[in-house]
Amino acid sequence: MPALPTGCTWVQDAQAEELRDYFSLTDVALRRVVEPERGLYMAESEKVIRRALAAGHRLRSLLMTPRWVEEWPDLIATARAQGAPVYVAAPAVAEELTGFHLHRGVLAAMHRPELPSIEEVVATARRVAVLEDIVDHTNVGAVFRSAAALGVDAVLVTPRCADPLYRRSVRVSMGTVFQVPWTRIDPWPDGVGMLQELGFTVAALALSDDAVSLDDLEVAPPERLALVLGTEGDGLSSRTVEAADLVVKIPMGGQVDSLNVAAASAVAFWAVRPRA
Ligand SMILES: C[S@@+](CC[C@H](N)C(=O)[O-])C[C@H]1O[C@@H](n2cnc3c(N)ncnc32)[C@H](O)[C@@H]1O
Repeated sequence: MPALPTGCTWVQDAQAEELRDYFSLTDVALRRVVEPERGLYMAESEKVIRRALAAGHRLRSLLMTPRWVEEWPDLIATARAQGAPVYVAAPAVAEELTGFHLHRGVLAAMHRPELPSIEEVVATARRVAVLEDIVDHTNVGAVFRSAAALGVDAVLVTPRCADPLYRRSVRVSMGTVFQVPWTRIDPWPDGVGMLQELGFTVAALALSDDAVSLDDLEVAPPERLALVLGTEGDGLSSRTVEAADLVVKIPMGGQVDSLNVAAASAVAFWAVRPRA
């Protein structure tokens, strides 16, 4: 085995207990439970790790394949400064450990940060997105990306919504889950009342007959607006729709019933973006 920089350790046994943060990364059902329980999340690729670090998140450990050790000495130095071990594994060992080929060369187990309070997250926000029970990590990540790009200041996720810090959400969001302030809103839909007390007009995005068109909301959006998006299959719960101040729909053409939730979010965020 070639010598490694100080702070790096060769890994040959893919079953070693100290590597358990990296076990079975492709088992979504398992990871969904294990990661929040252990207070960790995974960042894959150098770019995502750097974004997480820039947001003030801390490393638990790094896992690299050998050819990258020379490339990223600063990441290794950061790991050392944070007291996080750096594991170096041959590609085959890394694959056995994680369940996939580490083609991006590096993976990090990160400490999951404490979630801030809702008040803190929305304190100065004019536009907030609420994600009700969205199950697909790709959609969660895509909504965050649109939120960051289109003037949404904060995201609130309901208790049953998929984890924004899950590997796939992080990747699809292009790291914007580290940029846009977010937290869980619990209980829900009782949280609608809380948002109203905080001065938000709550708009449910749904396809009901009595909904106003997004065109109408766009003309004179309220100063503080929370847009609530529903789950992929059934859409918003009737309790949420009833509690909201208004129901808004994006008019559909071409005999299409509805948009994918992430596409709907981008259209709505753009239409109601603060102009001044
Ligand atoms: C795939 S849709 C769910 C469709 C569901 N069958 C329904 O009737 O709401 C997921 C979410 O995207 C949003 N959405 C999709 N198309 C929309 C539209 N045309 N107008 C308003 N919201 C829409 C809604 O928030 C919806 O709950």
